[in-house]
Amino acid sequence: MASFNTSNRGTFGSRFGFIAAAAGSAIGLGNIWRFPYVTGENGGGAFLLIYLFFILVIGIPVMLSELVIGRKTLQNPFGAFKTLKPNQPWFLIGVMGILAAFFILAFYGAVGGWTMEYLFQSVQNGFAGKTPEQLGESWDNFQSGTWRPVMWQLIFMIVTMYIVLSGVEKGIEKYARILMPLLLVIIIIISIRSITLPGAGKGLAFLFKPDFSKIFARGETLTVNYKIILEALGQAFFSLSIGMGTLITYGSYMKKSSKLGSSALIVSLTDTFIAILAGVAIFPAVFAFGIAPGEGQDLVFKALPNIFLQMKGGYIFALLFFMLLTVAALTSSISVLEVVVATFIEQFKLSRKKATLIAGSLISVLGVLCVLSWSDYAIKFGEELHFFGLLEIIATKFFLPLGGLAIVAFLGWFHKKNSTLEELSNNGTIRVWFFKIYLFIIRYLAPIAISALFVKIIIDLF
Ligand code: TRP
Repeated sequence: MASFNTSNRGTFGSRFGFIAAAAGSAIGLGNIWRFPYVTGENGGGAFLLIYLFFILVIGIPVMLSELVIGRKTLQNPFGAFKTLKPNQPWFLIGVMGILAAFFILAFYGAVGGWTMEYLFQSVQNGFAGKTPEQLGESWDNFQSGTWRPVMWQLIFMIVTMYIVLSGVEKGIEKYARILMPLLLVIIIIISIRSITLPGAGKGLAFLFKPDFSKIFARGETLTVNYKIILEALGQAFFSLSIGMGTLITYGSYMKKSSKLGSSALIVSLTDTFIAILAGVAIFPAVFAFGIAPGEGQDLVFKALPNIFLQMKGGYIFALLFFMLLTVAALTSSISVLEVVVATFIEQFKLSRKKATLIAGSLISVLGVLCVLSWSDYAIKFGEELHFFGLLEIIATKFFLPLGGLAIVAFLGWFHKKNSTLEELSNNGTIRVWFFKIYLFIIRYLAPIAISALFVKIIIDLF
C-alpha cells in the first residue's frame, strides 16, 4: 500500500490513471441525481446556460488552481497552505474544506444508500408491473422509512471507508478506470430510449429552451433572481468536485510530467457532458410520466424506473445502471473522504487506518441525521428545511464557492506568477498558451463575480 508522508506519498500510476480518478471524483451523484433535480427546480434551460457559463469561465480555472497548489506542495489542502504561507490564516481554506467534506459526505452517503436500495430492487425485479404512481408511492415509503435507508447509508459509508483504506493506486485508480467508460455507454443507451418515449419533446424543450423569465423578472425595473444564479454556481462547483481541496489532494498524487491544463479540461468537459446526458435521459421521462420537474431530491429515483419498464431488456439495463451509479457514487465519495483522511494522516500523524475509521465514523453519524430527514424522526428548521437540506445548502452554496474564491484569490494575488507558470508548464517544457486568460480570470473575473454574487445576496437578506 502506498504510504502518505510527504517524502513517499502515493501517486497515480499513469496520466490516464489520474484522469480516470479525477473524472471518477467529478462524475457521480452530482451529475445524475443532483444536476437534474436542481435544474428541474430552477426552471430548466436558462439554468443550464448559466451553469455551463460557470463551468467554463470559473469552474475550469478553479480546478486548474487546485491542481497547481496540490502538485506544487505535494500536500493535503491544510498542509499545502501552511507550507506556502506559514503563519498566515490561509490554512483556514483547508479547515473549511474539511468541514465541507463532512457535510457533503453526510448527505452524499444518504443518496448513495438510496442508490444501493434501487440496485437491490433491480436485482429483485422490484419495479416490474408498477404504474408511475405506484413507483412514486413505493419510493416515498422507502425514503420516509427509518432502518432501511439508514442501513443502506451505513453500508455505503463502510464500502467508501474500505476503499480509502487501501490507498490511492490499488483503491481509487483501479475502480475508476474500468467502470467509468461503461457508465457513459449505459447512460447513452438510456437517453436514447428516453427521447423516443411518446411526449419526450416537452422534456427536451424544458432542458434546452431557455426561459429567462425564471431568472429575470420584468416589473417596473428588471429584477434578477440571484438565488438561482448562486444555485448554478454551487452546482458547477459540486459537480466538478472543486472548492474544498479534493483536487489539491488529487493533484498532490499527480506525476510531475502530467499536463495540468489538458487534464483539467478533459475532466471538466467529460463531467459536463455526462450531466447534460443525464438531463437528456431524465426530463423526457419526467414529462412523459407526469412527474413534476421541481419534485426535488427524489426526482431521478421516481423517473428512471419508468424508463426501464419501457425498455426491451429493461431488467438488465436497470441492474447495470444502478450498479454503475453505485460505483460512480463510490468513486466520488472516496474522493471526499480522502481529503479528510490525507489531512488527518499528515497533520495529526495518524495511521491511514485510524484516520479513515475516525473520519468515516463521525461522518456516518452525521449522515444518519440526513437520512432521517424524511422520517418521523426528522430534524426540521421551519416548514421546508430539514437537516439534509441544511447541510446541502451550507456546503454547496457557501463553502464550495467561498473556498473556490479563496483559492483563486490566493494564486492570483498572493502567490508568485512565475511559480504558478512553472507548475502549469512543467518547468517550461510545455507552452501554456492560456496563461494570460487564466491569470485574468483568477485575479479579476472569478473573485469579482463570486464576491459580487455574495454581496448581492447578503444585501437582499436585509
Ligand atoms: N463531484 C461529485 C459528484 O458530482 C461529488 C464530489 C466528490 C464532490 N468530491 C467532491 C463535491 C468535492 C464537492 C467537492 O457526484
